[in-house]
Amino acid sequence: GTTRHYEFNIQLQNVTRLCHTRSMVTVNGKFPGPRIVAREGDRLLIKVTNHVSNNITIHWHGIRQLRSGWADGPAYVTQCPIQTGQSYVYNYTVIGQRGTLFWHAHISWLRASLYGPLIILPKLNVPYPFTKPYKEVPVIFGEWFNTDPEAIIAEATQTGGGPNVSDAYTFNGLPGPLYNCSAKDTLKLKVKHAKTYLLRLINAALNDELFFSIANHTLTVVEADAIYTKPFDTETLILAPGQTTNVLLKTKLKFPSANFVMSARPYVTGQGTFDNSTVAGILEYESSIPMKNLPLFKPALPPLNDTSFVTQFSNRLRSLASAQFPANVPQKIDRHLFFTVGLGTSPCEKNKTCQGPNGTRFAASINNVSFVQPSVALLQSHYSGQSEGVYSPYFPITPFHWFNYTGTPPNNTFVSNGTKLMVLPFNTSVELVLQDTSILGVESHPLHLHGFNFFVVGQGFGNYDPNKDPKNFNLVDPIERNTVGVPSGGWVAIRFLADNPGVWFMHCHLEVHTGWGLKMAWLVLDGKLPNQKLLPPPVDLPKC
Ligand code: C2O
Repeated sequence: GTTRHYEFNIQLQNVTRLCHTRSMVTVNGKFPGPRIVAREGDRLLIKVTNHVSNNITIHWHGIRQLRSGWADGPAYVTQCPIQTGQSYVYNYTVIGQRGTLFWHAHISWLRASLYGPLIILPKLNVPYPFTKPYKEVPVIFGEWFNTDPEAIIAEATQTGGGPNVSDAYTFNGLPGPLYNCSAKDTLKLKVKHAKTYLLRLINAALNDELFFSIANHTLTVVEADAIYTKPFDTETLILAPGQTTNVLLKTKLKFPSANFVMSARPYVTGQGTFDNSTVAGILEYESSIPMKNLPLFKPALPPLNDTSFVTQFSNRLRSLASAQFPANVPQKIDRHLFFTVGLGTSPCEKNKTCQGPNGTRFAASINNVSFVQPSVALLQSHYSGQSEGVYSPYFPITPFHWFNYTGTPPNNTFVSNGTKLMVLPFNTSVELVLQDTSILGVESHPLHLHGFNFFVVGQGFGNYDPNKDPKNFNLVDPIERNTVGVPSGGWVAIRFLADNPGVWFMHCHLEVHTGWGLKMAWLVLDGKLPNQKLLPPPVDLPKC
């Protein structure tokens, strides 16, 4: 592979949307940030220099970072933040991966404005396992806030109130014509007729799973989270924050005398407030004769709470599982784990207003532990052998309190705080059941695991039954991915092989839930062989 150099200068930039101008933290003055393109096998050297007053880290979402955990990016997990005036070179090699991923800030809510596509092309002269596209177009979903996200975080995390909603959803930073004062900020996808386009769809939104559809066009799903899938056709798809999908779009054989809206709006399972508005872009056919006033067709998106569509869609996702791209599902399991994920309550701190039930504070947890961010990075403290007082290596292997997880709420009010790691010897094969729990009501949680892809071997509603449910697991061609929706009021079972030494974050990719503590970390120990050990830290690794 080749070595590719990028420079990310973190700087303020005025950006205007919906007639509101805000000074935003950006990469190189761009919103959304620049696109990174590499090939499988390439080394990336990305120098991030911080010219703003906020602390910064950048995460390369979905990149496995084999033995290079120092470049992963979550603040206080693998590194201390890059402080004002400092820089850090993220240095990693893309091993055995190709597809659509993205990068984003991994500290506070800065990914509201710091995100961009990360595209890994196959090795030179290696074709896609599907029709060669005429053109490839990344479409990255995001959110626009008229006010500073810092104020919004304060509200969501300190008061323990409901999630704050953004003012618009965006495609490539553009809200589109369905919002006030936004018509000129519309993504226009100009296409020719009778061609195949590859759309690289990325959900970088902070707090919403999104349905996506293009009027009068069928999309063929060929990849999810940078893993090739068995192709299937759909009118609509669902993408959770942290998920990516490649679809083929075949344009009409003849020039149509219409233009077509592509749009996205949320899938909502929670009880809180949400933005029920719709981002729209336009698929515009190029014609040799100037065309004016063509009719505009709009797609029909599913109802906001359409869980049955979401279930059906996720059941259709299967790994390609071909000879060239096998699905290496762990068949023999060393560790069976059961984690509850969900919202709960913890006591309200003194002198705070808490908006949870009976004056409690909303907290989110995994096995009833709400993660407390340490003041030094976990990976650094592990590597230097100074974990005392930083973290505990005893993450609970089952929930503290068993209950009917999906029964009458509130039923998850036993949250404790802590910085606890689940320790795994090198090459442990893990089966993890993630069970949704509720307090005011159940809610879908897109769980993201750093450092690994996992296989989604089963899912269902209600309480997981360890005697019955495993009989229906798919161990042949389950989808392999890095972010999975834990179904609202249900469970999902995943399998992965802990073949990557380091400290790996796992969290809900809804920023508001991450803020409330729905996160934990795994510590995967070094193997015996030299090529099974975490590489030493780079010399420019930031200090806390
Ligand atoms: Cu895309 Cu830990 O995040």
